[in-house]
Amino acid sequence: MSEALRILPGTVADLNEVMVTMAEAFDPRFGEAWTAAQCRGMLGTPGLWLILARHGDEPAGFALARVVVDEAELLLIAVRPSARRLGTGSALVGEIARIAAANGARRLMLEMRDGNPAARLYSAAGFAEIGRRPGYYTGREKERFDAITLGRSLDN
Ligand SMILES: CC(C)(COP(=O)(O)OP(=O)(O)OC[C@H]1O[C@@H](n2cnc3c(N)ncnc32)[C@H](O)[C@@H]1OP(=O)(O)O)[C@@H](O)C(=O)NCCC(=O)NCCS
Repeated sequence: MSEALRILPGTVADLNEVMVTMAEAFDPRFGEAWTAAQCRGMLGTPGLWLILARHGDEPAGFALARVVVDEAELLLIAVRPSARRLGTGSALVGEIARIAAANGARRLMLEMRDGNPAARLYSAAGFAEIGRRPGYYTGREKERFDAITLGRSLDN
């Protein structure tokens, strides 16, 4: 994927594109992916933001976030395996932080499975660990994985 990266606003009409990326991006062992019904339900709620990443016209990834008063939560972020390590995930996080701050949020939070290599992306983007939820994710074999709660300030 060498074409220019673009970040665009998405809507519920983009659900199919989101679900293709979801299926490719998340390892089913860990129980992190959402179903189409969960995404559709979430996209109908106020304060919800979906953004899409494209490399040229090719779908590359997405991020879903929620802003509630002065706190934003990055609910999902995924990049297709063929589009990784090109700055797409970082660009999605940067755009979510910009949107959240523009909509009044002062903090951006997220939950990450303990051991997810995405940790490096988040620490480079200014996130720090603020808590842990034991057994938050349920894997394919019903095993449980802890979630780490990460947060960063959006104040400049
Ligand atoms: C996490 C994810 C979104 C990263 O997307 P990406 O487009 O590859 O991210 P970037 O290219 O912006 O990576 C930025 C930096 O993060 C780090 N990083 C990202 N993925 C990494 C990995 N698998 N292993 C080690 N470091 C990684 C690197 O430091 C990278 O910079 P570099 O490529 O210059 O070394 C992607 O791997 C993904 O979709 N994973 C599966 C879904 C998932 O786990 N989402 C997060 C849930 S909390």
